Amino acid sequence: MCEKCKGNYYITTPIYYPSSNLHIGHAYCTVATDAMARYKRLQGYNVKFLTGTDEHGQKIEDKAKEAGCTPQQFVDNIVLGEKGVLDLWKLMNISYDRFIRTTDDYHVAAIQKIFKRMYDNGDIYKGSYKGKYCKPCESFWTESQLKDGKCPDCGREVMDAEEEAYFFRLSKYADRIQDLLENTDFLEPRSRVNEMVNNFIKPGLEDLCVSRTSFTWGVPVDFDPGHVVYVWIDALFNYMTALGFENDKHTDLADFWPADVHFVGKEIVRFHSIIWPAMLMSLNLPLPKKVFGHGWLNFNGEKMSKSRGNVVDPYLLSERFGVDALRFFLLRTFPFGSDGNFTNEMLISTINVDLANDLGNLVSRTVAMAQKYFGEHLPAQQLANPEMDAELVGLVSGLQAKYQESMEHFAFQNALGDIFKVISRANKYIDENAPWVLAKDEANKPRLARVLYNLLETVRVCAGLLTPFMPATSAEIAVRLGGAPMDWDSLGTYGLLKADVAPVAGAPLFPRIDMEKELAALEELSKANQKPAIEIEPYAEETVDFDTFCKSDFRAVKVKDCQNVKKSNKLLQFTLDDGTGTDRQILSGIAQFYKPEELIGKTLIAITNLPPRKMMGRESCGMLISAVHSVNGEEKLNLIMVDDAIPAGAKLC
Ligand code: MSP
Repeated sequence: MCEKCKGNYYITTPIYYPSSNLHIGHAYCTVATDAMARYKRLQGYNVKFLTGTDEHGQKIEDKAKEAGCTPQQFVDNIVLGEKGVLDLWKLMNISYDRFIRTTDDYHVAAIQKIFKRMYDNGDIYKGSYKGKYCKPCESFWTESQLKDGKCPDCGREVMDAEEEAYFFRLSKYADRIQDLLENTDFLEPRSRVNEMVNNFIKPGLEDLCVSRTSFTWGVPVDFDPGHVVYVWIDALFNYMTALGFENDKHTDLADFWPADVHFVGKEIVRFHSIIWPAMLMSLNLPLPKKVFGHGWLNFNGEKMSKSRGNVVDPYLLSERFGVDALRFFLLRTFPFGSDGNFTNEMLISTINVDLANDLGNLVSRTVAMAQKYFGEHLPAQQLANPEMDAELVGLVSGLQAKYQESMEHFAFQNALGDIFKVISRANKYIDENAPWVLAKDEANKPRLARVLYNLLETVRVCAGLLTPFMPATSAEIAVRLGGAPMDWDSLGTYGLLKADVAPVAGAPLFPRIDMEKELAALEELSKANQKPAIEIEPYAEETVDFDTFCKSDFRAVKVKDCQNVKKSNKLLQFTLDDGTGTDRQILSGIAQFYKPEELIGKTLIAITNLPPRKMMGRESCGMLISAVHSVNGEEKLNLIMVDDAIPAGAKLC
């Protein structure tokens, strides 16, 4: 630790599943962690901010198979590829110090040693597993833990599972965990403690199945081939392997463990507040100081999910509104411990009200007035008016302490709320003091200078405290205030801006957004971005021998006439020229896809040597060939049409 530092501070985000690209819900936790990390750095702590990706498990193995690549290629693409996880954190200005991938060699080797240590100390033993498995969550459940027969976390169907497996003696730690949760501040917010104790500990903690044999994409149990380590053991220990636990790649375990806080989403609190401390207890390791379970962001009242097509793209939002505005919105609007409902209206209105109107206006009006009335810099001769100034000066002077109180409790919304109360008060102070009236009389210049100084000083302190949330904006404001100090100590003291400050004008920080136009544009973009879910028929497993295939007589046929069949809303009756000189009749159940008149004159493909068949009392001699698939669950059909230059009767071979 450096001499000047206040101490070390270790903060983590969950490591993300690279099973598909991340959405704004994922960015929420990372932005919060980043704000906290930056706040601690601002205070003078030596911060280690860890994030990363959790790359093993059946879900990834299945997705890679679907995509036709290896699991490693699949995760590499989502982590390192264009608009992947690393790109996203760069875009969102996430100041992580270390990024771990659970496929990193050092982590894999460390997990093997950790598993073996718990096996050797008797906390991991071999048994056989019978139960229910939720594939998307990679979670095993007992019958009693299911909710209406479905996964209690995600509500999806579970499947029966039985396999030889290793178990972790979680039950052994039940009392110690309950004590930890109930009698310390290990888990916050407090409401999550009741949830854990009542839903998981009181009904009885069962031993946890910690190995799998049904898939291979995981850390192999090195002393028992065929088993891979349960993905949550692999994942949770990332917080320590990333510092050098059981490996030589890193060497800062002694400096940073135990972690000061793990930020995690509410659905993974169970893993972090029960399983994680129990495993650490098993290895006699210090427990993290705190786990904070934040709420979920929903979108327009629904859970964000790719299948519902409502996932908000952080790239698109950052491009349109700017990264700082987006970061700010996420932490200003939703209390960190509770669920929040993301809407585009709220995003735009927060930008317009807080950033364009309140902050942006305060900065641009103040700088513009200072330049207009005094030219390059304010005069040092200034006249205070305690009666007019006391409230604003008092608010600004006390802001850091209030802010700190909220930040220490991860109450980002309150910290920002306090800053914006001061900003509003400053805008009111402009109206009360009417600088444009003071400017009319030369004798009022010292007073005018002090009014503008108070405003600039307010901006300095507010912008400085906004640094963890909007780093680029705060840096820009520091420039506009002529290079004002924004270090932690200076933000707690009123009056540190030089009296003869030379402010610098610039473009509006946050231009106002036309709500209606922007919503319409977003709607259009989201439609254009939504990839239709195309499904194709499964391929036949049975093979056809070549001679049998060659017996099929495919011919080009020209449509001479086409009619709807009375009393059928499915059938079309085709009269076809098949090159023989005698018309061929084929009936086809495609009336919902084509109007008869649009097919007349077209050249189609028919298989002609099927035995004739009666349909609605009419004979059909063959079958027209079409392509079928479905889009968003809706069936689609296209007749195969060929070049009209192909004569009727031409054989396909
Ligand atoms: N891989 C595990 C974490 C292992 S940590 C040892 C995992 N990954 S995840 O990618 O599915 O989720 C990562 C984090 O994103 C979780 O904390 C989860 O709560 C959070 N979120 C995912 N969708 C979210 C919202 N819609 N809103 C807020 N957070 C959300 O879980």
